[in-house]
Amino acid sequence: MDNRCIGVFDSGLGGLTCVSEMIKVLGNENIVYFGDTGRVPYGSRSEETIIKYVRDDIGFLMKHHIKLIVAACGTASTVALPVLEGEYPVPVIGVVEPTVDAAVKATRNGKIGIIGTAGTISNGKYAKLIGEKKPDAVTVSAPCPLFVPLVENGLTDHEITRLTVEMYLEDIKNSGVDTLILGCTHYPMLKKVIAEYMGDGVTLIDPGAETAHFVKEYLESEDKLSDGKDKKENRYFVSDAVDGFEKIAGLFMGHDIGGLVEKVDIEKC
Ligand code: DGL
Repeated sequence: MDNRCIGVFDSGLGGLTCVSEMIKVLGNENIVYFGDTGRVPYGSRSEETIIKYVRDDIGFLMKHHIKLIVAACGTASTVALPVLEGEYPVPVIGVVEPTVDAAVKATRNGKIGIIGTAGTISNGKYAKLIGEKKPDAVTVSAPCPLFVPLVENGLTDHEITRLTVEMYLEDIKNSGVDTLILGCTHYPMLKKVIAEYMGDGVTLIDPGAETAHFVKEYLESEDKLSDGKDKKENRYFVSDAVDGFEKIAGLFMGHDIGGLVEKVDIEKC
């Protein structure tokens, strides 16, 4: 048993797709969330900058009596985590492995689509790991850089979003994939529109949700689940725009987090 907190971070709102699932399956845990809203998006930045930002994010979370860090961000998980391996005294879990496991399990025809930020897609880690776990799989990928700003601006069910989905996903749809990895944790917030476009025969894989289940299994196996005796309100920190974050996060999570979000100067933490 370990009652210390779980730290979760993302460039903005996307990591909440992981937190909302963690709240369901890990209800005894105290979660400290950091969304780097002042520096979002990460996905179009250089590798060097993404690594620096991720170091800042983890450094900030480490100050909160943490037992485990979750990089609830596809970009951080693919670009930065391999470089930062071994730098921290607690485990740092990314979204790639749990997501790939779920995709490989879900596919029936062996054709898997991968969408993500420019950084994630050019890095190729998802496709590489799929190749290792299922050598006969065929992957088709596409970066979707406009999805993150659409989500951060709350345009999750809008005509502009439908057009953008069609523009980015047309080739993947035509390639006949039966499974699509939403390789950026922001994208599950567009699930409804993406599912409508891709059709019923395509299984969408949500990295945040898969990672929440992975974290549960990991803590169980290490005997590090919290017993709930120290359970408090989860805490949320952002590097800018508290009001906007509270509003969209509340809509997405289905409960109000007003008053729980604090602003931090991440460059000075
Ligand atoms: N949610 C993120 C990801 O999973 C970050 C997107 C971004 O900031 O570009 O990649």
